[in-house]
Order: sequence, then C-alpha cells, then structure tokens
Amino acid sequence: MLFDTHAHLDDAKFDEDRESIINMLKDEGVALVVNIGADLKSSAQSVELSEKYDFIYASVGVHPDATGELDENGMEKLAEWLKKDKVVAVGEIGLDYHNMGAAKEVQKRWFERQLLLAKELGKPYIIHDRDAHGDVLEILKKHGYYNGVMHCYSGSSEMAKEVTSLGMMVSFAGPVTFKNAPKAKEAAKAVPLDKLMIETDCPYLSPEPLRGKRNDSSRVRYVAEEIARLKGISFEELAQITKENGKRFYNIK
Ligand code: NI
Repeated sequence: MLFDTHAHLDDAKFDEDRESIINMLKDEGVALVVNIGADLKSSAQSVELSEKYDFIYASVGVHPDATGELDENGMEKLAEWLKKDKVVAVGEIGLDYHNMGAAKEVQKRWFERQLLLAKELGKPYIIHDRDAHGDVLEILKKHGYYNGVMHCYSGSSEMAKEVTSLGMMVSFAGPVTFKNAPKAKEAAKAVPLDKLMIETDCPYLSPEPLRGKRNDSSRVRYVAEEIARLKGISFEELAQITKENGKRFYNIK
C-alpha cells in the first residue's frame, strides 16, 4: 500500500470528478494521502478534505507565489488550523525564484515566519524550493530546525546528501520518471532509504508513461516503481519503506 505524501486534490482541475477520484484510491493501493495547502483558500479546502475522508490528512501553509496575500491574520488562521488532529504539517512553504510570484524579500519574510510557526508547534514542514537552493538552505540553517521535507526534489545529489545529513527528508514526484531527468535519478540514488518519501504533487507533474496528463494520487505507483528500480529493491519493499517514513515524518499513527 502506497502513501502519496503531497497532493493537491482540492485543485479546480478535480472539480468535475473529485469524489470519484478519491473513492477509487484505496482500490488503486493508496492507503494514505496528505493534501497540501498552497494559500489560505487551499489550506481551508485541505482541512475540509481531511475531515471528510479518513485516509486524507492536511497540511496548511502559503506557497512562496502566494505570500503577497499573507498577513498576521493569515498567520493566526494557520496556527488555529494546526491545532486540529488531522492537520499534520506546515506547507508548502519556501522560495520560488523561477515564478517570482512575490518579491524575494516578501517570500523570505513569510517563509521564515511559517518555518518558525512549525518550530514553535513542533510540527514538520514541507519545502517548495525552485531555483533558490542557496537562500533556502541559509534560512533553514539560521533556525536549525530540520524537521522538514524537500518536496518534488530538483536539486543535486550533493545537496540531497547535505540536507539528509541534517536530518531532513527528501521527496520525489513524477519528474524522477522522466527519461530526460538524469539529475533527479542520481539524487534519488543518493538519498538514504530512511530519508526517502514519494508523492504525486497532483494534478501537476504526471509521471511517465502518462506525462502531460492530469495527475492523481494513484500514479504515485509509477514514482515508486522507478525509485525501486534505481535503488535495486522490490516495489513492495520501496512502497513499505516510504509509507513508514511518511507516517513517521507526519506523525500519523
Ligand atoms: Ni505542491
């Protein structure tokens, strides 16, 4: 049974068939999903999904692209949601210097504030890092709280080794299956098995052989198959290890 540790099932791309997609996941071998907030609205929707479905948990947080909307009221709202049993993490938070949906200083300010919220509450956090590896690491090191995951990992093997040696988790999504992604495959080989998680980031980043289509949590299977191949272990073993890692990281019983 698989654990999709990062999904956006609240996304408008699921508005037509969300319920039927979610209801088929158990039959497809998906035991657990964490639905990830990316702004205040999707955080609220993640909480709702976690209240409606027993196998869906929620994280709440504001993605760097949306940090322009964040203020003290928003921070209070996040802290309030984080008191709920099935709200297991802060995220996704971080820096995105590719999209530049907000100015660098705005992104950094709210990344830091949300990281400190996670630290204060002793909750894990989910990092979105696009073209901002240096600044992300600098902020993480400044606060020395490494109970986090680098989601949809796109960095080097060297950085993967560094962050896992600090105690962080590294999670891979569909791109690790792409034929033209040697860097992601090398990084997956470099991550110790006890620091490895898998995800879909659906509806985005559908894996091979369904690249370009709308993604959903059932396709975490293709990510698992590819990483099992890269690691030289069985699919069942990889599925079991990443499920246990995800449960430990998110503190799910
Ligand atoms: Ni995401």
